[in-house]
Amino acid sequence: MTDQTHVLGLCASPSRGNSEFLLDKALEIVSGPGIQINRFFLGRKSLAPCDACGAHKSLKGECRIKDAFQEMRDLWLDADVVIYAFPVYHMGIPGQLKSFLDRLGNSLGYYFPSDDPPTYGILRLMKTMGFLTQGAHL
Ligand SMILES: Cc1cc2nc3c(=O)[nH]c(=O)nc-3n(C[C@H](O)[C@H](O)[C@H](O)COP(=O)(O)O)c2cc1C
Repeated sequence: MTDQTHVLGLCASPSRGNSEFLLDKALEIVSGPGIQINRFFLGRKSLAPCDACGAHKSLKGECRIKDAFQEMRDLWLDADVVIYAFPVYHMGIPGQLKSFLDRLGNSLGYYFPSDDPPTYGILRLMKTMGFLTQGAHL
């Protein structure tokens, strides 16, 4: 860990559209000295849904499916602040974001090694979050 604040902008739209525009504006506002910004375009990555295999329990929290999830999980864990930007899809969130959250939620409980300093895992899960969302009508 460094003394920089790590801000992760996660865009969960497949298009270069409104979500990305809003995220860019938000990241522009938060940028400054001591702030390290990462962007991740989840909507344009290939991410499988959770298949409920349960393998993460014996794999120390690692997800058996290897795709964009691992890179995104590492960026997510490293971040102090996460800003999600996503469009409304059928009054819910886009599938890519749901897949990420399902896999993250299931695996994280098993992820931190038992010899980790006791607070480290918890600290990595405590984040400031922001949500930017918009839709065309409902
Ligand atoms: C599959 C799909 C489902 C959508 N469902 C909704 C919806 O339920 N409500 C809504 O207001 N807009 C809905 N929209 C419209 C998008 O939310 C809207 O066009 C948004 O501005 C797209 O954001 P983006 O440019 O970041 O991709 C849907 C669009 C798609 C492609």
